[in-house]
Amino acid sequence: MLIKTNGIRIDYRDEGAGLPVIFLHAFPLNQTMWDDQLIALQNHCRTITLDLRGFGGSEAPQGPYLMDQLAADVRGLMSALGIDRAVLVGLSMGGYVSLAFYRSYPGSVQAMVLADTRASADTDEARERRLRSAEKAERDGARAIADDMIPLLLGRTTLDRRSPVVERVRTMIEGNSPRGIAGAQRGMAERRDSTPLLAMINVPVLVIAGAEDTLTPVAEADSLRNGIRGARIHVIQRAGHLSNMEQPAEFNSALLGFIEPLKGAF
Ligand code: MLT
Repeated sequence: MLIKTNGIRIDYRDEGAGLPVIFLHAFPLNQTMWDDQLIALQNHCRTITLDLRGFGGSEAPQGPYLMDQLAADVRGLMSALGIDRAVLVGLSMGGYVSLAFYRSYPGSVQAMVLADTRASADTDEARERRLRSAEKAERDGARAIADDMIPLLLGRTTLDRRSPVVERVRTMIEGNSPRGIAGAQRGMAERRDSTPLLAMINVPVLVIAGAEDTLTPVAEADSLRNGIRGARIHVIQRAGHLSNMEQPAEFNSALLGFIEPLKGAF
């Protein structure tokens, strides 16, 4: 479905009923990375996925897409759907957006799942790498970015043994526009350090990490857990950065275990 918010068209899905759970996808994918989670949660809560600006069926205006802008898009969608508070499930870039969202709209967050993500800003070196990758997307197209990123996004086990997952990820990346990919890279390069925010978070948080994630190693997940009062952590073996796609059954059971007790408060 399509909705216009903050001047652009956003593509989203809204299914089921009850506690609203909003899924925020990784870079440079789209909302279909959450398909396994939608199936698992369909009789448990209201699930909302969206293509962040620049990705999938959403519009890709000129970037950079600051994390605060992406968070404002999510808030705009919530307003349009009549949702005051939601559980946010953000993976990697989706986690950066979740933290930016919490900074701007803490009262709109019931709980958060932060998967394969980090609170810190980029190092100078990482920022340079991103800016080069943004130029490469514009010059060589989405396929070149898929070639660069797939070995980083997926864990060793998936790369060796689960070619359908590898193909799904490739299709998602190649379906995105170079402008969207570049806009998000430049926006992530500018993102602020959310470490000081962690101590202010006072909603339930579950941190999830793939044991084979080399982009955001488990040590990053430990820092999130240690920084957020009462946060729990779940490490998934034989999963890399896209832990929800690589080991969906274990990811879903951790997610459901976290969400079920929240339904009482809804
Ligand atoms: C992602 O999966 O969203 C990206 O790896 C995030 C990043 O590039 O920092």
